[in-house]
Amino acid sequence: MGVFGSTGGQEPSGHEQVVFCQDKQTGLKAIIAIYSTALGPALGGTRCYPYASEEDALHDVLELSRGMAYKNAIAGLDHGGGKAVIWGDPEQVKTEALLRAYGRFVHSLGGRYYTACDVGTYVSDMDVIARETPYVTGRSPEYGGAGDSSVLTAWGVFQGMRAAAEHVWGTASLAGRRVGIAGLGKVGRHLTGHLVDDGAHVVATDVDERALEWARKTYPQVELVADTTALITSDIDVYSPCALGGALNDDTVPVLRAKVVVGAANNQLAHPGVEKLLAERGILYAPDYVVNAGGVIQVADEIKGFNFERAKLRATKIFDTTRQILRLAESEGVPPAVAADRLAERRMAEVGRLRTIHIP
Ligand code: NAI
Repeated sequence: MGVFGSTGGQEPSGHEQVVFCQDKQTGLKAIIAIYSTALGPALGGTRCYPYASEEDALHDVLELSRGMAYKNAIAGLDHGGGKAVIWGDPEQVKTEALLRAYGRFVHSLGGRYYTACDVGTYVSDMDVIARETPYVTGRSPEYGGAGDSSVLTAWGVFQGMRAAAEHVWGTASLAGRRVGIAGLGKVGRHLTGHLVDDGAHVVATDVDERALEWARKTYPQVELVADTTALITSDIDVYSPCALGGALNDDTVPVLRAKVVVGAANNQLAHPGVEKLLAERGILYAPDYVVNAGGVIQVADEIKGFNFERAKLRATKIFDTTRQILRLAESEGVPPAVAADRLAERRMAEVGRLRTIHIP
């Protein structure tokens, strides 16, 4: 993908700003991408990952920052979309000096971009970055931060699942439904709790024995299966991908037995067109970025001074947003993923336009 749409005749990426940051002493190589500030300062996490090439890192940050613009818009936040990547193995590159050097680059954008945690970065890293810039959120509670965002991410996914259940079965309750969770990590564990409390039968899998052990000890009623293939081909009503991206693809969709898919993982659709495969099979897919916005809602709230109840109230609204998208999709005859994109684009255009009203 060309940043200015000038390479290889590909579609322009449409990003506002892409900044390459380098500090030779600390070994920092980072890219900050701002897709849009139409709704306010861009907000999105910093991913630290050992990309195979600079091209891969750029591709990822362009995709991720675009995704954040849509996620923040649909979540009703006064934030545009941005994201950053630090190129390197998080176990090896993340020194205090490197993170602080990175913080200075974030600061140089003057508040056009707020950073937060993502794959390979943690709350404690945000505390270090915050020593160089105030444009960071997702810090630890000791520093006035909101802490672990998976609490509200799981709550939001649960709300999205309730709205999807209501759409398909006429009742938002998951009681008696068989829900398959792939990935019992931070989000998957909180989600299991909400589902068990609601009376659902949880079937789950994870590649990490420690996660399975947690389930056996905490929720002995959870049915554990060998792997994701066993999970999706078993008799489940709802499939909840809570591990990695690309869970819905040409191999999984044809064998999926669930009627509904609602999960936390980002980028669940492996490629454009998968949403149509799902629709053809009569499987209702609640778009990932709509239902997993609880985490960004939490860190956005922290920017104003964190209030858990206020953030939770906002994450609870994911129920209404999901319901609105599913109804819009039905009335317009498009998959929910398309309806969600349309709603997000509409808000970016309508609310973003207000900034053209001159205030002296
Ligand atoms: P995590 O790293 O705590 O948990 C992921 C779990 O998936 C781990 O237990 C891992 O062992 C398991 N896993 C990995 N590969 C697997 C496979 N092939 N089959 C089954 N299990 C597998 O991550 P977390 O925070 O729970 O996030 C889960 C997903 O939700 C990720 O895709 C993340 O990007 C996304 N997400 C998380 C948010 C948050 O606030 N934590 C916010 C929005 C999205």
